[in-house]
Amino acid sequence: MPPLKMSSLMNILAVNTTTADSFSIAGKIAVVTGSGRGNGIGAATARVLARNGASVAITYMSESSAQGAYEIAQSIRDDYGVGVACIQGDVSTPKGSRKIILETMEQLGVNHIDILVNNAGYGVTRLLRETDFELCQRTFATNVYGQLFMTQAAVDQGRMPPGGRIINIGSISSRIQPALVGIYAASKAAQDSLTTSWAGELGRTHGITVNTVAPGPVVTEITKDSPEVLDPLVLLQRGTERRGAPEDIADAVLLLASEKSHWITGQFIAADAGITGIR
Ligand SMILES: NC(=O)c1ccc[n+]([C@@H]2O[C@H](COP(=O)([O-])OP(=O)(O)OC[C@H]3O[C@@H](n4cnc5c(N)ncnc54)[C@H](OP(=O)(O)O)[C@@H]3O)[C@@H](O)[C@H]2O)c1
Repeated sequence: MPPLKMSSLMNILAVNTTTADSFSIAGKIAVVTGSGRGNGIGAATARVLARNGASVAITYMSESSAQGAYEIAQSIRDDYGVGVACIQGDVSTPKGSRKIILETMEQLGVNHIDILVNNAGYGVTRLLRETDFELCQRTFATNVYGQLFMTQAAVDQGRMPPGGRIINIGSISSRIQPALVGIYAASKAAQDSLTTSWAGELGRTHGITVNTVAPGPVVTEITKDSPEVLDPLVLLQRGTERRGAPEDIADAVLLLASEKSHWITGQFIAADAGITGIR
């Protein structure tokens, strides 16, 4: 993609002083990876983006998630009347990532992608002495390489235009390093670093923002069997005693996806009821 002319960039960054403020993303095309599980952060995010006007792609990897993914896609279509694609793809390979982007554009009948939410993730609890090569490989392949390959595909094949948004779902574990999830936390720290690098690479020249939304403890498939990790974190929350819900994270993503976040880039934004921050 060629760099932008300065005049185009000025238009993107122009401050609106005439119309009422809105978080509408009507007409935008969004891909949310790993959004095929009904109780996951990805499905909640796809739903909130669609409710605010975007056409969305639901993506899943496992055969066991296929039926759920198609049901989520249909219910979003029924509820909000936007275009919804449903695609199987593995984000951990360049080929799988390109497939997701190309099939999104084909199913939705569009020629570009405006918003990419890199939500697909993998993590399990494991003692240091029991952490093997296979676990390291799968964790980094999904969480780090997956975000890399999807971002490349969205910018290249997806021709992400100026005003585009890359939102990486990280984790507060990269900042607080809980015991038992060392490799997962390390992969999320790598993601944080990539967010800042990509914000520089895609910002001035392409007009695309790149940010991390880092959830605190939310009960989903990935965490439901790990109360030993989740419960101590809930005790550290400042904002509320309840655990996070997928919708709490989805709302933070909407803020970053909207035009209102045009001056926010390269940031780590924790949606964690105040666990992180100065103590
Ligand atoms: N829940 C929490 O407390 C919490 C806290 C901090 C950060 N996060 C982050 O939030 C994100 C969503 O997690 P979640 O809690 O909603 O977990 P989840 O329900 O387990 O969702 C993970 C999703 O990732 C997909 N996925 C895994 N490997 C993939 C691959 N190679 N290619 C494509 N998709 C793949 C899965 O797809 P299939 O269903 O098809 O296998 C699944 O939909 C993750 O990045 C996670 O690290 C979660």
